[in-house]
Amino acid sequence: MSDFPLSAGGARRPLSGSRRVLAAGALGVLGVVTALSATLPANAAASTLGAAAAQSGRYFGTAIAAGHLNDSTYVATWDREFNGVTAENEMKWGPIEPSRNSFNWGSADQIVNHAVSKGMKVRGHTLVWHAQLPSWINNNMSASDLRSAMTNHITQVMNHYKGKVFAWDVVNEAFADGGAVGTLRDSIFTQKLGKGFIEEAFRAARAADPNVKLCYNDYNIDSATAAKTQGVYNMVKDFKARGVPIDCVGLQSHFGNPPSNYQQNIAQFAALGVDVQITELDVGGSGSTQADAYRRVVQACTAVPRCTGITVWGITDKWSWRSGDTPLLFDGNFNKKQAYTSVLNALNAATPSTSPSPSASPSQSPSASPSASPSASPSASPSASPSASPSTSPAPGGCSATIKTINSWGGGFQSEVTVQAGSSAVNGWTVKWTWPGGQTISSLWNGRQSSSGSSVTVTNESYNGSIAAGASTTFGFTANGTAATPTATCTSP
Ligand code: XIL
Repeated sequence: MSDFPLSAGGARRPLSGSRRVLAAGALGVLGVVTALSATLPANAAASTLGAAAAQSGRYFGTAIAAGHLNDSTYVATWDREFNGVTAENEMKWGPIEPSRNSFNWGSADQIVNHAVSKGMKVRGHTLVWHAQLPSWINNNMSASDLRSAMTNHITQVMNHYKGKVFAWDVVNEAFADGGAVGTLRDSIFTQKLGKGFIEEAFRAARAADPNVKLCYNDYNIDSATAAKTQGVYNMVKDFKARGVPIDCVGLQSHFGNPPSNYQQNIAQFAALGVDVQITELDVGGSGSTQADAYRRVVQACTAVPRCTGITVWGITDKWSWRSGDTPLLFDGNFNKKQAYTSVLNALNAATPSTSPSPSASPSQSPSASPSASPSASPSASPSASPSASPSTSPAPGGCSATIKTINSWGGGFQSEVTVQAGSSAVNGWTVKWTWPGGQTISSLWNGRQSSSGSSVTVTNESYNGSIAAGASTTFGFTANGTAATPTATCTSP
């Protein structure tokens, strides 16, 4: 059963197990009937995603970008279909604490306040992540200075959203994509604080709020047997064994297809005593193939009682961070896609979810054990399937590239680059540009980056190098500095 009643308006504080029982008793027969009907499979199929998910005690959320809240169709679709939300960028460290200890709550508050007024569940995303950091977090900081900045950030942000957020992604994407099991991504946190930074962050988070679920969130941990998954699994097991507070694992699930052992993976995390949530779902593709992949994701989650909710990473394909892959449930005109219907049907067929209260809060001080930084990770980017959007301006023979700004905030921005094949197919591509004003890329996906000063070179990943004649693919990045759209060149061998 969900911690927050989803049907009633207004945010509720999570109830502990015993308080839930008392509350049901106090409500009398009517209350018990209502409580039961929230957990039993529905007699009648619900007609929206959120209502369908609520029948099994789950939520179905979406990422929301504050910049689109002036679009009435966007907001109407959010309100009608979803009962959960994650701010797509607004709660990240750079946007929310652009200068040290000075917080910019405005855009995140807009999203959270709207969600709370509608009784939606809010996931907090994210407190400690190597990407979208403010520029004042940098290599000139000492370890103790970084540690106090991290603790202050966690404390202030969690305090601000206390009672409104039900789960926090305390640490995001800390594990590397390659290397031995358990290898962490090389970041300012591993460099200055060592591997212990994850534990320190979770302990600081528990100290800030004993009533919120604390999650570890990552991508490419969808396969039960992948080395990266095993690393995260071992960490959760170790945290549980040592009493380090952790309540949930988030599987981002940016993919083209769920792995065949996806449900097994969800179940193996749940068996460690944590909730599992699918936190940033988007599935590249179209038509029945995409619909089928979405159905398998929803069935895998709903088959496991402790898989408590699913969040898709946006509403409409046109504003997806992977828009070239058309990975969402609504098309560019907010029409329901085939994938929408398969998700709705799978949610309506779900068996109930269960989830206990957040883990007890051990009051030990953070273990401060800066250790040598783990081996460097290869460039990390979520897997994606190649896009097949039609060409608007085919370049003759080779390829062309266009940079578009998707989002910007104080000190940083996000761009999408469309790589378009000309009149013949492209097999491998290289895109280059020069930054006009000292911009630097902080994170890049769906491409491999090498930079030298202001010159940037990006080549394809193994899965998106082939582009059919007239078709296109996209890659994306976030950068520090003022948003810019320099002219890019594209070459193919
Ligand atoms: C993405 C957003 O969708 C973009 O708008 C942003 O510029 C870059 O980040 N993993 C995460 C998310 O945890 O926060 C990322 O969101 C996608 C990958």
